[in-house]
Amino acid sequence: MPSTDTKASFVKENFNQIARKYDLFNDLNSFFLHRIWKNHLVKEVEKETKGQLAVLDLCCGTGDISLRFHKSKRVDSLLCIDFSSEMLEIAKSRLKEPISSGRAVLKIEDATNLKSVPNNSLDAVSIGFGLRNVDNLPKALSEIYRILKPGGVFANLDVGKVKSPIISNLANFYFFKIVPLLGYLIWGGKNEMFDYLPVSSLNYPDQESLKAHLEQTGFLDVRYRNFVFGNVALHLGKKPLR
Ligand SMILES: C[S@@+](CC[C@H](N)C(=O)[O-])C[C@H]1O[C@@H](n2cnc3c(N)ncnc32)[C@H](O)[C@@H]1O
Repeated sequence: MPSTDTKASFVKENFNQIARKYDLFNDLNSFFLHRIWKNHLVKEVEKETKGQLAVLDLCCGTGDISLRFHKSKRVDSLLCIDFSSEMLEIAKSRLKEPISSGRAVLKIEDATNLKSVPNNSLDAVSIGFGLRNVDNLPKALSEIYRILKPGGVFANLDVGKVKSPIISNLANFYFFKIVPLLGYLIWGGKNEMFDYLPVSSLNYPDQESLKAHLEQTGFLDVRYRNFVFGNVALHLGKKPLR
């Protein structure tokens, strides 16, 4: 598994490699539930904001959450950022219409250094299953905080920690033993990326710790909602108005 120094290049190279299988893998390993969680993310962003929105889907991958924002009548402009060119290629083909109309823009950039995105420029930033792959969590959070407008919303969907020991043991068995096998099956052989994906959750903060990270960054009204007993969590936080 990668060290902190090699994590970014490992993650980028391996997402490039598995890009074409990623959506199928996601559907099968979550029993299609990721689609429902992503719908909730977009609904929560709509609920927490007013008027027409400029949205960034960060670590957008193949554009699964971006597509949902594209379908929202509240979204005027959509920026989709990822550092994997192959994942973005798929997002590009799925978002042909908004790209050609100029409503969506895709960029290759690192979540820890969003140099092309101006300060205070976005109403909402989302990340789906991306934050635990980032090699410098505080840096990514401070970048998100910087680019949000005052009052803007950050929504983060990712794996969570289960409190009940019985459910946690079952979930760990599924996540660490079955999910990699599912990946090999879809890939057609062993691939360490499918071992990395569950392992990447080990050093990722639990729900309360991530809430604390968001508050330390400056976000207000931070809350989270658990899905499937806390195996997945959606965090929301607001940049203060002043
Ligand atoms: C598990 S996929 C999630 C894709 C999509 N958001 C979804 O929910 O289906 C994680 C994505 O995060 C991207 N990623 C990881 N670290 C990143 C970083 N530091 N900067 C930009 N993208 C990153 C990967 O390239 C990959 O496409």
